[in-house]
Amino acid sequence: MKSLSSIVTAVPASGIRKFFDVVSQMKDVVSLGVGEPDFVTPWRVREASIYSLERGYTHYTSNYGLLELRQAVARKLMETEGLEYNPEDQILITVGVSEGMDLALRAIIDPGDEIIVPEPCYVSYKPCVIFAGGVPVPLCSDAANEFRTSADKVAAAVTPKTKGILLSYPCNPTGATMPTDEMQKIVDIAVDNGLYIISDEIYDRLTYSGRHCCVAALRGAYENTILLNGFSKAYAMTGWRIAYAAARPDIIEQMMKIHQYTILCAPIMSQMAALEALQNGNGDSDEMVTQYDQRRRLIVSGLNQIGLECVLPNGAFYAFPSIKSTGLSSEEFSERLLFEEKVAVVPGNAFGDCGEGHIRCSYATATDKIETALERMEKFLKKL
Ligand SMILES: Cc1ncc(COP(=O)(O)O)c(C=O)c1O
Repeated sequence: MKSLSSIVTAVPASGIRKFFDVVSQMKDVVSLGVGEPDFVTPWRVREASIYSLERGYTHYTSNYGLLELRQAVARKLMETEGLEYNPEDQILITVGVSEGMDLALRAIIDPGDEIIVPEPCYVSYKPCVIFAGGVPVPLCSDAANEFRTSADKVAAAVTPKTKGILLSYPCNPTGATMPTDEMQKIVDIAVDNGLYIISDEIYDRLTYSGRHCCVAALRGAYENTILLNGFSKAYAMTGWRIAYAAARPDIIEQMMKIHQYTILCAPIMSQMAALEALQNGNGDSDEMVTQYDQRRRLIVSGLNQIGLECVLPNGAFYAFPSIKSTGLSSEEFSERLLFEEKVAVVPGNAFGDCGEGHIRCSYATATDKIETALERMEKFLKKL
């Protein structure tokens, strides 16, 4: 038998998955591990999807997605960011931002092209760059600069082989957001070097103070940027697998080709649900964000009180405290905390080497569970 793909076999499976397989077998675990809302999708959204099924909406849609949904996405981008995208050929409905990311990378990468990836970052970015034939170039950031990359670091990482940069603010796992002026400098570097910018803005509505900085809306960024966003986080719709990409028509055309031949279209019932979310779901989303904000303050002050230094993140639903004071590695800390006190967190090194010395605690979980987790963590720390 010949060997499996060397490119794929060289990439390790996600450490998070391995960890959660263990968690799912254990009883009485308080999980601050999973990166998904604990809320159920708002009823109006579920109902819209059920109603569409009752009316017989069970077929393929256009490869681009339902025109009505693309029009609603275009309206949102115009209303919130003043961005004009033609719903006919500049918006593609995808199966999660995950698919959008894969399409965007495959549409821009030739073998050996470098993609700059600020870290710590979402676990799938580097593997997806590799699967697309590219070379990820990680850019480390740390707690001292609130886990934001900088224009200077980006400028220093650009080589003749650089094809693009992947930006994701608010950030998973750190919750960092980027000030507009620094983001503008990064955009300027990308534009000056003719780079593509892939901007994953899945946490845009989960920005707690100030306004979300939409990369495509910055000076000069529109032509270069592939904007990815979706419904999983803001509308508690992780299981629906529905999102969108917006970009120049020639970029969307190449992404659409891959999507057309591999996926055909996103499921119609999820597209109907997404349409309802965009048209009538912002109130529900705002209520969830208000609760995340309260939990954010609770968990961050709790972590600092028990001795795990943590900055107040401005976005997403993750706290990323330092565990350096314990002398344990992030994997040791997470494993021992799980087995000794039954609290699940994610080791920081799952998000890149510079995540070492930290753990990711998701606060997309009920207040009483956060309180119990903090009590158990305190007990754990006292034992060390
Ligand atoms: C930054 C980021 N991008 C993308 C995703 C995946 O999103 P989707 O459910 O739309 O595929 C996640 C999920 O945790 C994420 O944190």
